[in-house]
Amino acid sequence: MTRAKAKALNFDPTTFLAALGQFATGVTIITTRTDSGQLIGITASSFNSVSLDPLVLWSLATKSASMPVFRTNSHYVVNVLAAPQLELCRRFGTLKGDRFAGVSHSAGDSSMPVLDGAIAWFECHNRSRYDEGDHVIFVGEVERCGVRGQSERVPPLVFHSGDFHTLGPLESSLASIRVVSSRVRWLWPAPPRHCAPAARSMRPARPRRPSWSEARCSSRCQSRPAPCTAWKE
Ligand SMILES: Cc1cc2nc3c(=O)[nH]c(=O)nc-3n(C[C@H](O)[C@H](O)[C@H](O)COP(=O)(O)O)c2cc1C
Repeated sequence: MTRAKAKALNFDPTTFLAALGQFATGVTIITTRTDSGQLIGITASSFNSVSLDPLVLWSLATKSASMPVFRTNSHYVVNVLAAPQLELCRRFGTLKGDRFAGVSHSAGDSSMPVLDGAIAWFECHNRSRYDEGDHVIFVGEVERCGVRGQSERVPPLVFHSGDFHTLGPLESSLASIRVVSSRVRWLWPAPPRHCAPAARSMRPARPRRPSWSEARCSSRCQSRPAPCTAWKE
């Protein structure tokens, strides 16, 4: 059954942002060059694949100063950032001046800038654009792409819940995951109502060695959580 209109919202913008933030993404810098030779670039985490045709997409805020250029330029490059490029990510996400000053890059086949150190890049024809909400969705047709040598093993930059991370093999992270799941047992169900608000979100000081039997809510409330059974030394 198709509904004529979407239902009224039952969440606030903070909840929406928090929920979106749980979707971990890579980070890209999208670069282009105007006819007059000016280099333009912005940090974007909205990049995603569309199809093997090969098409990709990303979205840009309508208020972005670079919008007029990206709307009209025929090509751009999606540079996928490596973890060591965090400063570059911040620079292209905030700096108002020349973001390319001192940034090493070379010209791709379309003469658009490809950033040195990117772990992958996609040179795209600016195929189509869709105005939606306060963003424009760009669909790019990939004409060239490259990936940094696997032997270099440079990890990607990862954006999650407003913070930057990188990746490690899942197996070596299992211990940390046990800690996280044990925290969930502590936070839900929450500590008793009479605990101070700060104490109600208390976590073990050293997450890699949680000593649940020693954890206390606060000096005012000395109740202990139940010993955690999820954690195994
Ligand atoms: C990690 C990260 C991801 C971002 N992702 C996007 C995005 O997908 N789309 C967007 O419009 N802005 C995004 N931004 C914000 C832009 O990079 C920022 O607004 C930039 O200054 C726009 O430049 P301009 O106004 O010169 O065009 C992101 C910023 C950061 C730090």
